[in-house]
Amino acid sequence: MNSSVCIAIDGPAGAGKSTVAKMLASKLGYVYIDTGAMYRAVTYQALTDKINMDDTVAITQVAEAIDLSLKVDAGGNTRIFINDKDVTQEIRRPEVSKNVSLVSRIPGVRIILTRLQRELAAQGGVVMEGRDIGTQVLPDAEKKFFLTASVEERARRRCLELQQNGYPVEYDQVIRDIILRDEIDSNRALAPLKPAPDAVIVDCSGLTAKQVVNMLLSMVSGG
Ligand code: DC
Repeated sequence: MNSSVCIAIDGPAGAGKSTVAKMLASKLGYVYIDTGAMYRAVTYQALTDKINMDDTVAITQVAEAIDLSLKVDAGGNTRIFINDKDVTQEIRRPEVSKNVSLVSRIPGVRIILTRLQRELAAQGGVVMEGRDIGTQVLPDAEKKFFLTASVEERARRRCLELQQNGYPVEYDQVIRDIILRDEIDSNRALAPLKPAPDAVIVDCSGLTAKQVVNMLLSMVSGG
């Protein structure tokens, strides 16, 4: 596979995109880029600065001012830094998850992060994961996948992931949060969550990450 190629992976919260994108990038020797982590980092910084979540001007200023960088650690995991501070753990806090959809609705924030994402993908050889990669960020990506799964399965996965990270969450609350987040992400005016017309839609319900990766790999190498 040509290493200048870009692969876009989009889909709703909890569909297993991160695991699959990370595994696919590692199989291909590509760089994995998690764009949700960038929206989370802006949200984390705005919350840390005690900015009101309705203050779109102040939140856009946060996005303009912060210096975001991604680095791959020895274990192959991507870490995210704000002004050289590692915030990889902090951006997964439930408080950030709860507010990130509001932040990602703000046009100024999207413009700034989209620009950064395009710069990161400019050399090719990337698997970029998010909500609008195939539609807005990299509309010319050579391969586009849209991963989905039933809302129950997505909530189960998110619950497990949060519990494994030490956050004691209730399934009912997680499913409510996911439904609300899907609603905001899908209905926002700018760059809503939706498959690109040329994306391959993959329903991951009942499939393991390995099975999904193998499916994607066969489509990637199949031309
Ligand atoms: O993938 P995630 O759950 O970490 O994403 C966090 C939020 O960021 C999600 O609710 C929607 C938003 N997002 C976005 O609007 N566009 C992207 N390309 C990636 C994420």
